[in-house]
Amino acid sequence: MMKKILFVTSEAHPLIKTGGLADVSGSLPKALLEHGLDVRLIIPNYQDIKTTEEIFYKSTVQVGNVNVNILETRLPGTQVPVLLVDYPKFFDYPGNPYADEQGNAWINNAERFALFCRATVEVAMNRAYLDWTPDIVHCNDWQSGLVPALLSLESGRPATVFTIHNMAYQGLFPKETRVLLKLPRQLWSPSGIEFDGLLSFIKGGLAYADRIVTVSPTYAAEIQTPDFGCGLEGLLSYRKDDLFGIINGIDFENWNPEIDTNITEPYSALTLDKKRLNKTALQQKYSLTVDNKIPILAVISRLVEQKGIDLILECLPELLSLPLQFILHGRGNKYFEQQLSHFGKTYPKQIVIILGYDEVLAHQIEAGADILLMPSLFEPCGLNQLYSQRYGTIPVARKTGGLADTIVDVAPETIRNKTATGFIFNKATSGAFIEAIKRSLIVYSNSEKWTQLQVNGMQKDCSWNNSAKEYIELYEQL
Ligand code: ADP
Ligand code: GLC
Repeated sequence: MMKKILFVTSEAHPLIKTGGLADVSGSLPKALLEHGLDVRLIIPNYQDIKTTEEIFYKSTVQVGNVNVNILETRLPGTQVPVLLVDYPKFFDYPGNPYADEQGNAWINNAERFALFCRATVEVAMNRAYLDWTPDIVHCNDWQSGLVPALLSLESGRPATVFTIHNMAYQGLFPKETRVLLKLPRQLWSPSGIEFDGLLSFIKGGLAYADRIVTVSPTYAAEIQTPDFGCGLEGLLSYRKDDLFGIINGIDFENWNPEIDTNITEPYSALTLDKKRLNKTALQQKYSLTVDNKIPILAVISRLVEQKGIDLILECLPELLSLPLQFILHGRGNKYFEQQLSHFGKTYPKQIVIILGYDEVLAHQIEAGADILLMPSLFEPCGLNQLYSQRYGTIPVARKTGGLADTIVDVAPETIRNKTATGFIFNKATSGAFIEAIKRSLIVYSNSEKWTQLQVNGMQKDCSWNNSAKEYIELYEQL
């Protein structure tokens, strides 16, 4: 029998996106559908949802003492049905799903996502007049964490899977919030949704889901230690037999340099010389010296501590003394934005800082740059290093989480057996980072070796093919 999956998420590309969770939610369900599963996505109906598909009214469910509409659309360009939880009072305002323009979390986030979770439970229990009962409810990150907890109280419930995309975001709220949200008392204990006297949404997933997944095998091991577990390492190691690391795949159609309509000139591993035209376009666009020999080092990232932005800032003065160009695109922490902009304004011939986020530009940078920097302090999986490998843009990254699992460091042996795809460094220091960058520049100057690295990365299969199968095997066990 074809398994029925309700995939619960707070963002999904191209509907709405703040980071990698959206990319995964926009591509894994599609892969599951292609493998013959009956998968439906459920997401809040934010004002900024972008879709070209039609939206239909499906039903109205009572959640607590309010009425919530369930609308239906499709994930644009796919056959994946999307259920929209429509409650304008909580979701019909502009901007980011979690925070205002200044990056301050919306003050009613606990109420917003609790309502989303409760509406999801109604759908999961087939009480939303949709005539459909999932076998598995697959939740993602803290915003959906109360779903496994609330479902644990239901009889005849579907099985639950909770994927951790980032332990650093836990959905913690003051303990009074439990009463405000009318959450059942049975859930409130240190082995339940309580964490140090606070209400923890993520613990609803970690304590109650039948299986826990995180987005790389290395991160699955890391989060069982105090350095990465963010205080929940005890619970995670207690649940280690139910905890799996499944590496993220990427959308192989959307991120394909051969057919990418966002870039200046499509190319493949066989026509790598055409990648150069994308580099020229980038240099022209940002008034940099147009010269193919000057390497472009790029960063595309949320500007938060996790991403090692401090290390980048520490390295920039030394990078200026090297013959290279540096392009950074992203937004986030205001301090990082100011410091980076300052460098860009002072050294416009070498450093380009484009604050904000533009999906088309992200593709153009992946296509036009030579090297992608990811000096993350921790990285559950990371997607940009996968996109960059597909685009022949070589990653220089720290050995942590999914970066350690998806990049093969350049060494005599890996050069020989053609598995090398990038440059890895261990210590989170600017010295180690610069050394890795310098190693990459040496190889860059040898075009034959460099091309081999590009080809190695471009020929790797990092589509969802393998990882979707791992998820399906996990569903089968339940
Ligand atoms: P994370 O999810 O931690 O940000 P990933 O590498 O998994 O890291 O995913 C990053 C994805 O988010 C990429 O598709 C990237 O282009 C995109 N991205 C980077 N910065 C932003 C931003 N400020 N807003 C929205 N998306 C972004
Ligand atoms: C998180 C992580 C990132 C991961 C993404 C998708 O945002 O920070 O490493 O790739 O989720 O799983």
